[in-house]
Amino acid sequence: MLEVVGASNIVLEGFMGSGKSTVSELLSEELMLELIDTDEVIEDTEGRTINEIFETDGETSFREMETDLLKAIDSDHWREFVISLGGGIPVKEENRELLRKIGKVVYLRAKPETIFERVKDDDKRPLLKTEDPLAKIEELLEMRASLYEDVADMIIDTDGKTPMEITREIIDKL
Ligand code: S3P
Repeated sequence: MLEVVGASNIVLEGFMGSGKSTVSELLSEELMLELIDTDEVIEDTEGRTINEIFETDGETSFREMETDLLKAIDSDHWREFVISLGGGIPVKEENRELLRKIGKVVYLRAKPETIFERVKDDDKRPLLKTEDPLAKIEELLEMRASLYEDVADMIIDTDGKTPMEITREIIDKL
């Protein structure tokens, strides 16, 4: 299936809980491409969880780690991977420029209510540790939606679809 993507990566962006991890795993299996999950790479490199990095070093340091990883992917010419991005990566303009160079960007779009249902029992996301996570999701999504759209080569509406349906839709549109 390598001919489908050519010498490029398939990069999945979207809000926390939009299904990037599950869909990227399915995509990597279907297309027989290796998978890079930026959160996992950062956790492995640091030997700490995202929560611990946020608590000890703060969000700004975490954002620098994300940018450094994108720069490494670009300069070391990592190509023909499926890359699942942490949900905040496209917020920085520098990152959006790097994403455009790195690969085909697929935005997994989801409504706040869908996202809330997917993340409400999960304590792995420091930004959603608030009294009213749904309000926080709405606030962040309002700020981020146009940025996700700005960098996207393809937008997939995911509400009400299974991960396999989403995966097939992406492959059909590649
Ligand atoms: C974040 C999303 C998370 C993780 C961190 C910050 C964000 O990744 O990078 O908690 O700012 O949206 P997922 O989108 O994989 O949950």
